[in-house]
Amino acid sequence: MGADRKLVLLGAPGSGKGTQAEVLAARLGVPHVSTGNMLREAVAAGTELGRKVSGIMNTGALVDDETMAEVVRERLGRADARRGFILDGYPRTLGQAETLEQVLAGAGDGGLGRVVLLEVPAEVLVERARGRGREDDEDGVVRERLRVYREKTEPLVGYYDQRGLLRSVDGDAPVEEVTRRILEAVG
Ligand code: AP5
Ligand code: MG
Repeated sequence: MGADRKLVLLGAPGSGKGTQAEVLAARLGVPHVSTGNMLREAVAAGTELGRKVSGIMNTGALVDDETMAEVVRERLGRADARRGFILDGYPRTLGQAETLEQVLAGAGDGGLGRVVLLEVPAEVLVERARGRGREDDEDGVVRERLRVYREKTEPLVGYYDQRGLLRSVDGDAPVEEVTRRILEAVG
């Protein structure tokens, strides 16, 4: 038990990670762990972490790996994440992928089950971000988030493929259909 429910959703900004993670978490009975949501909550609450990251998030850049390691180590260390989790927005760099491996090895109850790559054409991504109204959804920032994704996060596709964990899913379909495809791919 355990490892099969430890899922990572990988994909560009707007590919539907948050939307699908929420549905999957409810279906599989495991927590939805979104580093983006956690950072936005810290910003809203005005904590030290929030003050440190708000400017970075507003430009579309990534928060540094060390800060993110603390956030993720603390969250995955909580009791509710032992049986599994849906990770959304982490890892985003090769360094973060290595940290995640260490965190899970330390917990001693199994590594990642699967990594699901949500594939959505670039023009659909930009369209989806329009009108959602998050602070980093302004056109220029969306383009920068996409650029950062290609440069820093896309290498994780090969990293997880080499480890036999990657499943690619066409995410350009209605929400329920994408959920069905993900469940089929990890099943
Ligand atoms: P984060 O919050 O993770 O944002 P993101 O990855 O850029 O992506 P989004 O949340 O915009 O997209 P999503 O894939 O979740 O899609 P969604 O379901 O919302 O990160 C924000 C920032 O925080 C980063 O830029 C960085 O600064 C920082 N950060 C976070 N994690 C970090 C980390 N690990 N390391 C360093 N920095 C980090 O869907 C998008 C829209 O499309 C929605 O309106 C939705 O309703 C719609 N939609 C979804 N699915 C469908 C569908 N099937 N059909 C039609 N519309 C759909
Ligand atoms: Mg999201």
